[in-house]
This record gives sequence, C-alpha cells and structure tokens, in this order.
Amino acid sequence: MAHHASFSSSLIYIKRPHDNNKKKMQLINFNHNSGSMTYLLQKPHVHQSFIINSALFRPSYTPHKNSNWFLKSSLTKKVHIRRCLVSPPCMRVVMATSTNNSHHNVKALVTVKQSDDGLIKNIVTGIVGNNHLVLELVSAELDPRANSERETIKGKAHETEKTENNVQYEATFELPTNFGNVGAVLVENEHSKEIFLKNIVLDGFPDGPIHLNCQSWIQPKDDTSTKRVFFTNKVYLPLQTPSGLRKFRENELIELRGNGEGERKKSDRIYDYDVYNDLGDPDINIELKRSVLGGTKQFPYPRRCRTGRKHSDADKLYEERSTLDFYVPRDESFSETKQTQFNKSTISLGLTTILQSLDTLLTDTNLGFANFDDLDAIYKEGFQIPTLESNDLTFLQKLIPKFFKDADDSQNLLRFDTPESYKRDRFFWFSDVEFARETLAGANPYSIQLVKEWPLKSKLDVQIYGPSESSISREIIESQITYSTVEEAIEEKKLFMLDYHDLYLPYVSKVREIKETTLYGSRTLFFLNSEGILKPLAIELTRPPIDGKAQWTQVFKPDSDSTNLWLWRLAKAHVLAHDSGHHELISHWLRTHCVVEPIIIATHRQLSSMHPIYRLLHPHLRYTMEINKVAREVLINADGILEISFTPKKYTMELSSVAYDKLWQFDLQALPNDLIHRGMAVEDLNARHGIKLTIKDYPFANDGLLIWEAIKQWVTEYVNHYYPSSSTVESDQELQAWWTEIRTKGHADKSEEPWWPKLKTQNDLINIITTIAWVASAHHSAVNFTQYTYGGYFPNRPTIARNKMPTEDPTKEEWEKFMNNPEQTLLECFPSQIQATLFMVVLGLLSEHSPDEEYIGEIMEPSWGENPNIKEAFERFQKRLKEIEGIVDSRNEDRNLKNRHGAGIVPYETLKPFSGPGVTGKGVPYSISI
Ligand SMILES: [Fe+2]
Repeated sequence: MAHHASFSSSLIYIKRPHDNNKKKMQLINFNHNSGSMTYLLQKPHVHQSFIINSALFRPSYTPHKNSNWFLKSSLTKKVHIRRCLVSPPCMRVVMATSTNNSHHNVKALVTVKQSDDGLIKNIVTGIVGNNHLVLELVSAELDPRANSERETIKGKAHETEKTENNVQYEATFELPTNFGNVGAVLVENEHSKEIFLKNIVLDGFPDGPIHLNCQSWIQPKDDTSTKRVFFTNKVYLPLQTPSGLRKFRENELIELRGNGEGERKKSDRIYDYDVYNDLGDPDINIELKRSVLGGTKQFPYPRRCRTGRKHSDADKLYEERSTLDFYVPRDESFSETKQTQFNKSTISLGLTTILQSLDTLLTDTNLGFANFDDLDAIYKEGFQIPTLESNDLTFLQKLIPKFFKDADDSQNLLRFDTPESYKRDRFFWFSDVEFARETLAGANPYSIQLVKEWPLKSKLDVQIYGPSESSISREIIESQITYSTVEEAIEEKKLFMLDYHDLYLPYVSKVREIKETTLYGSRTLFFLNSEGILKPLAIELTRPPIDGKAQWTQVFKPDSDSTNLWLWRLAKAHVLAHDSGHHELISHWLRTHCVVEPIIIATHRQLSSMHPIYRLLHPHLRYTMEINKVAREVLINADGILEISFTPKKYTMELSSVAYDKLWQFDLQALPNDLIHRGMAVEDLNARHGIKLTIKDYPFANDGLLIWEAIKQWVTEYVNHYYPSSSTVESDQELQAWWTEIRTKGHADKSEEPWWPKLKTQNDLINIITTIAWVASAHHSAVNFTQYTYGGYFPNRPTIARNKMPTEDPTKEEWEKFMNNPEQTLLECFPSQIQATLFMVVLGLLSEHSPDEEYIGEIMEPSWGENPNIKEAFERFQKRLKEIEGIVDSRNEDRNLKNRHGAGIVPYETLKPFSGPGVTGKGVPYSISI
C-alpha cells in the first residue's frame, strides 16, 4: 500500500455487492508503518447515522479469499484497493487519500433530525424546495497579511442518506494547507422550511475529525438576514478565543440579545427579559385582571422571557393573551417525545375539556365527595365523566392517554393509578406520625424549621393583624414533651415548626371575600422524640380582625376527646392546604422554575456557546423556558389550574411574589445554607459535609447532601481546570457580564440586596454554579416527582380547605352539623370533585418522567468528552452518582431510619439519580423540564 503522509483519518463506506445500503464508517489514526491495511474497525461506537467516531484496530484477522465486501474511502483523489484480512463478513478495502500538498480534502457530514410530522421527510424526498444546506468553513486564525478574517471556504451539502430519525447531508471542500484550524462553520438552509441541525463532523484533517454539536433549528435562508454560526466543540475563555473567531463570538451574542423591540416570532432565537404582565386577561373580563409581578416594590419578581406581544386594550400594563402560543426562543422547545407527553395541547386542551365535561356533569361544581368510599372508588372504578361525543372522547384519549388506559369507550371513565402511598397503606393520610414524617421525606421537605425562640411571635403590624404573640401556650407544649420546660426543649433543638402565619395572614381578609374558599394563618409545632421521629403537638389557626370582629385564634391538639380530635383533623386539613400552597407556589414554582428562567436568559445573552461555563450549565438549563411558558398559558394564569385548585384563588401568584420579596435569597438556595438557615443543620467543620443535621434522619437532607457534594466536586474540577487563578475569573468579561446581568436584569428587583455572592475567585464561581445546578436538578426533583405519590390521594395533601373551622363564630346549624356528622364536615372542607380530579390529572402529568428524560450525569455534553481531564472528571461524577443509588437503597433498608423505613412507608427514593419512564417517584434530571 502506498504511503501517504497526509492520511490519518478518513471516511469509509462499507458496501456489500447487491446491497444498496451503504454504511459509512470512519477510520482514524491509521498506522502508516504497519505496512498494510490489515486492520478491522472493531467495536465501533455508533454515533449517529452510522457515523463512527472512534474505532480500534486489531491485527489478528485471517484473510478470506472470497471477499465480497469492500471499503471505499470518501476521499476519492487517489484510490488504493487491497484485500482486507478480516473475518466474515469478508471485505475488500478501497483506500483513498489525497496526495495534493497544497490543500486538504475535507468532507462535512451533516446530520439533520427527522421530524415526527414528516416535514423533513418531505424535504429530503424533494417534495419541498431545494435539498441543500450551504456550509462555509471559518478559519480560527486571522489572515496575517490582511489582519482580518480569512475568506471562508464554501460548499453545498447534499442529502445522501435517510434513516428512521435522521437525514444525512455531505459536502466536500478543498482547504488550502495554510487555512489554519477550522474554528466554526456557517450554515444556510436553502430549504423552504426550517430544519433541526443536530451536528456536523468535518473529516480529513491530520489530527482527526472536528465535531460541532449544533442542536439547533435553522430557518430558511430566505427568512433570515444572517448566516448561522456554529463553533467547534472546543471551548475557550473569551481572552483565549482564536483571533479568527472573535468577531463571530461577539456577533452571535449580539444577535441572541436582540434589540428589545417588536413582537417575537416563533422562529426567533432572541433572549430578553420582561415582567409577568401576561397572567391576567382583562380583555376577556375585568375580573381576570391580576397584579403585574416584577418591576415594582410592591410585587418584586424574577423576570420572564420577553415576547413583545401587543398590550391589552383594557389595560395598557398588560400584554394580551389572544394568541395562546407564547413565544420561547426556538431552540428552547421540547423534543418531540416530551411534546407528546406534556405540552400546551395536553394540559390546556385536555384539562379544559375535562373541566367543561365535569361542569356539565355536575350541576353543582362545588360538590364535594359524598363519602370516602366514593373517593376510594376513583382508583378502582375510575371517575365517571359525562357522555361525550365519540370524537371528543377520542380527542381526550389522545391528549391524556394515560388517564384513559383500559377504559371502555362507552364508559367515559377517567382512570387514575393508585398512588404509591395509598397502595402501601390506605390509612396513611390519617396518621399524625405520617403527617410529621412527610415534612422530612414527603413532597415538600423545604418548609420544616427549628424553633429557636419562645414565645412565638409574628412580625406583622399588630394594629392590622391583632396581637403578635402566639396563643400556643407553654402548658400545651410542656404537657406533651419529655423536657420540663419549653426553653429546655428549644435549647436541645427538639422543637420544630411549619410556620404559615405571617405568609398567609395578610391575605386572609381578601381571600375570604371569594366564595368557596377560606384562609387562616397557621403554625404547627412538632417535637423530636427519642426515637428520632417528629410528633405533632399543636396547630394554631388565626384569623385577623375582620368585619369589626376581633382577631380569632385557636390552638388544636392531637390527643383529645372525640370532638377535639375531629377539630384536630379539620385543623390538619387547613395546615395541609397551607403546605400544599407553599409547596407548589414557593418550593416548586418560585424557587426552581421561576428563578431559573432569568438565569437561562442571561446565560444565552452573555456567555458564548464556546464558553466553558455555558457548556457546563447548558444541560441544566434545557426545556425550562418551554415548561414555564406552558405554566403561564394554563397553570399560573388568571382562572388557570392553580387558581381553580388552591386556597388563595386569585391571589395565588401574588403570594409567590410576597415569598420572593420576603424569603428568597440566592445564597440560601445552596443546600447547606438552606439547612442552616432553617435551623435543620449547624456548621461543623469536622462533619462530612461541613454541617451537622439537627434531625439525624432527615431523608431529603441526607440524600440531598450526597448529590450536592457530587455536583460540587464535579464543578470544582471543571472550574479549576479552566480557571487556574482568581485573576482569570475576574478578567473573564463574558462571565462577569453574565453574573452582573443575572443580578441587575434577571433579578432586577433584588439587585441591591447585600447577600448576592461576589464573583472574584474560583471558589465564588464554584459555589454559584453548584447552586444553580443543584436548584435545576435535585431541588426541583425533590419537590416535583413525588407530587402524585403524596398528593394523588388528596385527603393527604388537599390543595384547598374550603370551609372555616366549626368553632369560628359558628351558627347553631353549623355546629350541630359538625357534631352530628364530623366526617361530612371534613369532606366538605376538602377540595370539590372538580378541583380534586383536575389536580390529580395535573399531578399525574407533572410527576412523570418522559422516555427521553436526561438524568444528571447520564450523558456527557460533547465538549466535555473532547478534553481528557474534563472527561475523566465527568466519569468520576457519573461513578459517584451510581454509588449514590446504592447508598440510598441501603439507607432505605436500615431499620433505624424510621423516617424512610417502616411498615406501609414509601421509602425515600426521590433523590436516586436515575429512573425509568413514568411516575416512579425517583430520578434526578439535569434540568427543570416538567
Ligand atoms: Fe416542575
């Protein structure tokens, strides 16, 4: 075989005679000194579309005389044919390399994703428009003679192959040897429709192929004024950017920022900020007017993505909602698998249809369940919805198929899976121990806090809200604990609390003006007993002065006579509704979905895709803008699902603004800081994670700290690799602009707060990135994926308590009704049939992992794999996450850990990193995608 110095890498086709299915493989690192082409591609890693990115060579095969396969290089300048020594299937080899020393022959392989709707299929079969993509190779180096960008090398990419999911295009280029390294590719789409470009591989270089991971929609050339630029998978800090790419790097960011004007089109890629002024819909009905969240002292809020829609006619402060398909930058859309699971069609059309159906079925939309048997029957027999036209039924079955499984079409039944908690113990919701346990291991483990001082006091204005001191007396506590005084129990860190007093009390009067709901401020006290489990001691419900009546407050205890026991159960229903509201509005929506959106926007506006921190964060920031858009469309909007389902009704979102104002701090989103802040841990430098937990068996904290530590270790190795000194952090202009923008634009209403971390050192950066990654992954998972487990049987977590306590200014009838049938009073306090059913559907959807879920540490971002140090660090991260799976399993088997192990208890698997699809109650995706 001839020896060609320029050849070290080539594309190879494998083709069997009489078989038209050519398959491409890539031969790399060919050994020039081996003397012959006697090696076989072995165990190739199939990347996409049969492109093989790596291969090993093994010199130990026996020749087969009747070879009927051959390999043919894609580089056809000069061809050498040789029999290949291979085991069956036999092959012949056609090698080809270039001998021209003035240029490289380079081939570009472009992979475009097939669309489910056949759009791309149509394009490639020639039904629609031209079949070309125009590529231009950009040199990473400036032309030294002109000190300007070198002229790009242009080529047309033609479709060559289709597979089930992808369409392959190829282009060839002659690259002058003095062209320098290729640093980017410009792409134009000559089709008449947009295409989704997955990746480009450039082959034919002495050092091996160059990869560009694109993952982006490309609009038709005729619809855009600029060419799309994609950089190679190599990352650079701004100051290290190769000279030929600097302008491209800057211009790309300018384009992504837009000019802040005009209405965004679906195809746009612009990331910009706006306030939440699109939740209300005063054009439809003035009753649907809602406070604008963000931009004012009264209602501070994180920013959302700017859509630039027209302002409402009824009120110029609002953006109109006439088009129910809000803009998100094009590449933020869900993948198609995710779309079929949960998108605006599913949630808005499906739920609206159910809602309308139930409306017609139930003459009284406020009707509660008549008894617990009816409620239990939902899981056994399904929930009857009215007879629908068969088209409507088919439509619903398509939209939310999981709720119609096994249903007989004629029955019109909504089917619900039995929640895991109910499956294991159908009386679980009745248990006070379970009520307390779920504050540590349930759907909302973010609220429980240590009682640090006595007496408990409100910070609210006594003139408006009445006496500030709690009516929970020391006698109530001391009669139920094993310490002689409250002070002693506090000193020993044995008293804990759910504190929903100051958060809700200011809204009580307003909410009580709305029909079919009510509200109190509440405090619930718990005692940590010698078994290490929490025992509820007291619930205090408070109503402020209202309609000329003085403040009303009452304390309820669990150990009482039958009247007081039923009152305790009713008070517990109120607290659970408060906790459900805190969970959904604050722990879940505000602290994950909502606060992350402006971080995503800033990341795209200020960090180039070739920035190492962009690449580190990107997996954590995917799909969130899309799901938040769906939330604005149908969940958190005026008259949306949350307003229908939750106690505060039309004030639901305002309350999340109050929480942002009073409670949210970036530094407290780091798990250790959050635990310390709530008194659930103290700093202890000798302890494993630098903190010691106040409750040893706090499943969320124990497992969360393992994930926190793993993320931090990975981020530390990554950051220290790219930033060898503090000065490199400080001099990184993109990074500094990014952090400034998060604070001053994304979280503008809190930009002056003193607690924002500085960004001067590697450690500052490590803590900031770890916090963002934690919030987007494990924090979100901890409050998202067990929603159906614990809320799917709503008596355990009612979203609303509709009636006041029978002891608050009761009429004679009310009191008698309670005394004669307390169970009925409880059922009437619980959500109505519509509220319960609707929210069960929502919880079922939100708790589900899609089949293409991307779990933390599962898949390596392509640029990480190109750097051996980063690749190794990632593999350590991945290994650690797999170890955590085992640690969590062994903890759940430990009989001493009574908050996660016991008869009828759901084990705490929430933070196990990996999961299969469906409602599994475990699995930590990289990002907030549902
Ligand atoms: Fe979520």
